[in-house]
Amino acid sequence: MPNNDWIAHAADHVWYPATQMKVLETEPLVPIASAQGAWLHGADGKPYLDAIGSWWTSVFGHRHPHVVARLKAQLDRLDHVMMAGFTHEPAVALAEKLCAIVPPGLTRVFYAEIGAAAVEIALKMSAHYWVNTGHPKKSRFITIENGYHGETLGALAVCGQGWYRDAYAPLFREPIFVPSPDCYNRPAGMSWEDYSRSQFRHMEAALDAHADEVAAVIVEPLVQGAGGLRMYHPVYLKLLREACTRHNVHLILDEIAVGFGRTGRMFASDWVAPCAAHDDSQQPFAPDFMCLSKGLTAGVLPLSCVMTTDAVYGAFYADPAAGKGFLHSHTFTGNPLACVAGLAALEIFEQEDWMARNRRTAQRMWEGVAPLRSHPHVSEVRQQGTILAIEMAKDPKTHTPYPASERRSARVYHHAMHGDPDLGVLLRPICDVVYFMPPYIVDDAEIDLMCRTAIAAIDYATRD
Ligand SMILES: Cc1ncc(COP(=O)(O)O)c(C=O)c1O
Repeated sequence: MPNNDWIAHAADHVWYPATQMKVLETEPLVPIASAQGAWLHGADGKPYLDAIGSWWTSVFGHRHPHVVARLKAQLDRLDHVMMAGFTHEPAVALAEKLCAIVPPGLTRVFYAEIGAAAVEIALKMSAHYWVNTGHPKKSRFITIENGYHGETLGALAVCGQGWYRDAYAPLFREPIFVPSPDCYNRPAGMSWEDYSRSQFRHMEAALDAHADEVAAVIVEPLVQGAGGLRMYHPVYLKLLREACTRHNVHLILDEIAVGFGRTGRMFASDWVAPCAAHDDSQQPFAPDFMCLSKGLTAGVLPLSCVMTTDAVYGAFYADPAAGKGFLHSHTFTGNPLACVAGLAALEIFEQEDWMARNRRTAQRMWEGVAPLRSHPHVSEVRQQGTILAIEMAKDPKTHTPYPASERRSARVYHHAMHGDPDLGVLLRPICDVVYFMPPYIVDDAEIDLMCRTAIAAIDYATRD
């Protein structure tokens, strides 16, 4: 449309996600015209530092030249082809590369487009596995409170936040919820490891009571993202793996938010120590299903996948007449462009020691927010890799939150975006948790800007 006319019509027809549309009357949308590196550029030319990597996807910044070049070349060759009965090089090559970097034993890749679809597929595959192997009663799921796995019905059912799920509760088959190992409310002086370990008793009890009817346990490893960037110790995952093996229940790890380097290692699973197997030998940690998305394509195109084992795959491999096939499909499954973006992302990972670079970024972020550790309205500053979360509280000593109606997090967002007329920083707190999940390419000046802005915005939002 001429003269940026589209901006005036932005909400005439488009219904926006995660948005109460009435709020737009007083808090207008931010029109974005272009993006480069760690920066979004407003239609009026104002730059915004993307400190949360556009919903945690943009691991190498926007329009990374290698991803752009690979996509342009792919567009000249093959845009899309359905994947039932057909195949193409990008899907095959990406699957091969993924199998080489994930925990051992995850040898099969099933593609989809979005994170929630990957979660649906993992849940269905697990339940279907038990049908195919003669245990049809094993059809429920266990999950931990305050988790998030996406918003299609199956995925939403295993989410733990009321504000996402309550209106749809009659539509769900309820999972079994157990208290989270998240360390925010641990007793004073207790280590993360001891607290997460002690919380495992709830999971053990649920497995003892329900293993016969449970297909799988699904969790976000180490960081409960949309639940407020709550964090826990890897010992919980080790105990969980061992207990799932003992109880003959699958373990689904949703690495959609934390995979591809976010936690300081390529996958959150890589933090977990070897686990006891059925025969009591120690084996490298691996889930039965791993869900990936977001950083999978460097945040450029929608793609997700579920990775699983030969044992699971084998339970579906039979003559068609046996009726055991996994017939799930999405129209754009394994889209060639998305798979090429995935290949490009993995090639960029190979070009540099990003984990070493991220350790420096993480350290500088930690130092940059030092004043917030003694702020009168900050109850905790926590970090896992390049995820740094700052929890605001009305009373930090008792962890008393602000009333939601005060919309303190909206104040943080607006101050960071609009407080300075020349330049903004995209911080989009979850509840009262302000956090950074920047692209890995951020330089020192950008990290310092993020930290300064967060401090100023939190000061502003907690004043009075
Ligand atoms: C851990 C986790 N799982 C699943 C999802 C859902 O992904 P999508 O929004 O692509 O459906 C998200 C999205 O934030 C997530 O953080």
